[in-house]
Amino acid sequence: MIGKKIAIVTGAAKGIGKAITKRLLSDGFFVVAVDTDIEEGQKLENELGREFVEFQNVNICDEQHVKTLFTSIINNYKRIDALVNNAGIIRDNMIWKMSVEDFDAVINVNLKGTWLMCREAAIIMKLQNFGKIVNIASRAWLGNRGQSNYSASKAGVVALSRVLALELGKYNISVNAVAPGLIDTPLTQKLEKEVLQKLIEAQPTKTMGQPSDVANTVSFLVSDKTGFITGQTIYVDGGKSIGANM
Ligand code: NAI
Repeated sequence: MIGKKIAIVTGAAKGIGKAITKRLLSDGFFVVAVDTDIEEGQKLENELGREFVEFQNVNICDEQHVKTLFTSIINNYKRIDALVNNAGIIRDNMIWKMSVEDFDAVINVNLKGTWLMCREAAIIMKLQNFGKIVNIASRAWLGNRGQSNYSASKAGVVALSRVLALELGKYNISVNAVAPGLIDTPLTQKLEKEVLQKLIEAQPTKTMGQPSDVANTVSFLVSDKTGFITGQTIYVDGGKSIGANM
């Protein structure tokens, strides 16, 4: 751990977050892997090694949990070089069938949780006069039927990233969003086969992306090569956001 850069990745136990964690490890980061899935989180720590990854069971929607996490990171590692806000959930339904509970749950994790993590990171990164924040949004922020809660939460993440780029730029902190399209993870593996097939057909590439496609983009954004890139939303979606012929 000594001499390594320190990154926090949320939702690190599975899917895209796990791929980001592995990629940042190979880039030379020590990663604090945050998730509420204790079993998978501990598995990840065992698999990758405690000298490279520390699992933290933290619910990003809980202000106290988040504050305690940042205090422990600063006590143990003294600095935070990168924050990747990846944790997110879906609760899809047409608006006329969507419950307030499903609306609140999605906004809470995807938007409030991301905001809480950004706030605590900003306090520390401002003192360091350095930091890289990457927020995982979604192509769905452009609008997806059945995802009024999710699309709104991810549009919020894009707006949040743009505002923080304005507020934190003069402190040498960059804030960008990554907007993945259809990526093969436990989240999309829950979709009905027919629905998934239609979604793949609608892709210009006729394929799903892999978690490593998103991880490679995050790796670039947290690297030293991107000092002048901030407030941007980078699509990793096989061209779906172009929208032609849809
Ligand atoms: P996933 O469901 O495979 O993994 C998400 C992880 O976040 C899980 O390990 C879960 O335990 C954790 N998590 C959920 N709520 C949490 C909380 N309150 N606090 C801490 N951890 C929490 O999801 P996947 O597919 O890897 O997605 C990762 C991110 O990418 C999400 O933000 C998702 O919205 C976004 N995304 C995914 C796409 C896809 O096609 N898979 C497409 C576009 C965006």
